[in-house]
Amino acid sequence: MGIIQTLSPELINQIAAGEVIESAHSILKELIENSLDAKATKIEVLTENAGLSRILISDNGVGMAREDLPLCVKRYATSKIHKFQDLEHIFTFGFRGEALASIASVSKLSIASGMEGERVAYEIKTEDGKVTSEKEIPHFVGTRIEITDLFYNTPVRRKFLKTEIGEEKKNRTRLQIMSLAVPNVGFRYVQNGKVVLNLNPEPAFERVLSIYGENLRDHLLAVSVERNGIRLHGWISHPDFYKSSRMSQFFFVNQRSIELKFSAQILKRCYGELLPSGAFPYAFLFFELPANFIDVNVHPQKKEIRFLSEDTISGLLFQGIQEVLRTSTPVEFLEMRRRLSMPIPYVHGESNLGEEMGLGLAATLPYREHFSLTGISPGINLNLLSETPTKHHAFVPKKHYGIIFETFILAEAEDGLYIIDQHTAHERIRYEEVLRDLKEKAYKTQVLLTPIRIEMTIEEAEEALSSKEALAEIGISIEPFSGGTILIREVPSYIDPGKEQETILDFLERRKTRHLEEKQMFDEMAKCVACRSAIKKGDMVSDHLIAELLQRLSFCENPSLCPHGRPTLIKLSRQDLEKMFHRI
Ligand SMILES: Nc1ncnc2c1ncn2[C@@H]1O[C@H](COP(=O)(O)OP(=O)(O)OP(=O)(O)O)[C@@H](O)[C@H]1O
Ligand SMILES: [Mg+2]
Repeated sequence: MGIIQTLSPELINQIAAGEVIESAHSILKELIENSLDAKATKIEVLTENAGLSRILISDNGVGMAREDLPLCVKRYATSKIHKFQDLEHIFTFGFRGEALASIASVSKLSIASGMEGERVAYEIKTEDGKVTSEKEIPHFVGTRIEITDLFYNTPVRRKFLKTEIGEEKKNRTRLQIMSLAVPNVGFRYVQNGKVVLNLNPEPAFERVLSIYGENLRDHLLAVSVERNGIRLHGWISHPDFYKSSRMSQFFFVNQRSIELKFSAQILKRCYGELLPSGAFPYAFLFFELPANFIDVNVHPQKKEIRFLSEDTISGLLFQGIQEVLRTSTPVEFLEMRRRLSMPIPYVHGESNLGEEMGLGLAATLPYREHFSLTGISPGINLNLLSETPTKHHAFVPKKHYGIIFETFILAEAEDGLYIIDQHTAHERIRYEEVLRDLKEKAYKTQVLLTPIRIEMTIEEAEEALSSKEALAEIGISIEPFSGGTILIREVPSYIDPGKEQETILDFLERRKTRHLEEKQMFDEMAKCVACRSAIKKGDMVSDHLIAELLQRLSFCENPSLCPHGRPTLIKLSRQDLEKMFHRI
């Protein structure tokens, strides 16, 4: 007796739904794409219980005819392609004719739709993928789809879903990302009765700010390049504005949000040293290319696509980012001066600026025997300083000889030549200063006459407000304003003026909702201030300021490492030099 049977169409649909419908957010994606394909300019979405109890989406698109309604929930039924060749110039989001069939197989569905010029509209209802009713309803133009009891017949899938809050967040994120690609379309999203997104049609740049916060406005650099019929445009953040995860990098190809596997590497290469480690720039980048340059039919949820020439795309991305970073305004000298001219704690009386910087004590710094320069005979060590904290005055510069490669300060001390990274060194200085201020509560707070408004996503604002008390302990007072907007009312003196917003945002980002002990909190904040206020590679620094920087570094508890563990200085001892030149 044979054991093989053909699966029933219902079961086939449920299996297929597993690939397309991961959760409510994948339904939102499919439905919004359908609305966009129907040329809607206004899309309203409503979810209850993260979409598991109810999803309602209405659009003002072209609608469907009476005969099309029962067909739209059938598998492989589509109005978007007719023959295989159509796939080569696809400009619609959908083409497989399976989304609605999949959704219908795992939920109860009601679809109402009307077309212009008609007298009435029509509605169908489905259960287990089968049409259970069809009727006429009062006329309107567009489509309204209601989904109830998602996964009622596939309880295992339901069990795999994350918490409701997690799913709600995914839904919001999905809408936000999709709306970036179509700024000319208005979106309204009501979650459990609360409006969480309300976007009118607007220019693309404004759309980015509407979603990710007005505070990004002055920190975005426009990217625009074109080659061989492929255009790349959008925005990346200035190196002074970044996040601690890759979550704010978005790529679109012909308006479709996709995962670009080479993007992370390219961004990293382009920003390089401009960003501290663990920092990720924002990116909102849109490719426009002829439809026959891509194959969209490679991923069940169309998250990835195949390019005819991946090298052209990655090359254009590299060129676009590189160009704008190279030409973006360097930090002004005055700004530099301000950053460096913070008071020097622990130095009494006149500070010893200029050439005579000897403070008396010669350093004895530990060696790292096996670190040798390639090409130079072994035994001559270029010593990276020890990672164990060194004592005060371990590094005592006497003279400096300026900056090489726009980054490294050359300084002479009693015991050798030091090469100092201006960025990491300044980070170390600010880190220790801020940490000390925080521990000793040696800072003042200032109530701002005009509070700083920070616009962010609703969930970021909620997260920030849940940290309100913790922030108050370190001199920062924030308040809710509306939706995704919060106000900073009071700021502490240890944050550099003008850097409040980005430093606080950075701190919130690192902290997220986890609870930090006081000590960790001080440490995190000190790192954020250090990162945000330190001079960068390539920043112009005057002789006078170099001297000041070196002096302040010599007063650090651990002058040899930046707060993130990168070296701030390396030493070529007098003895090494003498050995190199066969003097000893
Ligand atoms: N909001 C809508 N307005 C007008 N027509 C719609 C709408 N949603 C669906 N349709 C019609 O129903 C058909 C089936 O939709 P469905 O999403 O299942 O497939 P598709 O969009 O063609 O392809 P894919 O499975 O790749 O999304 C569409 O081709 C379209 O003709
Ligand atoms: Mg579709």
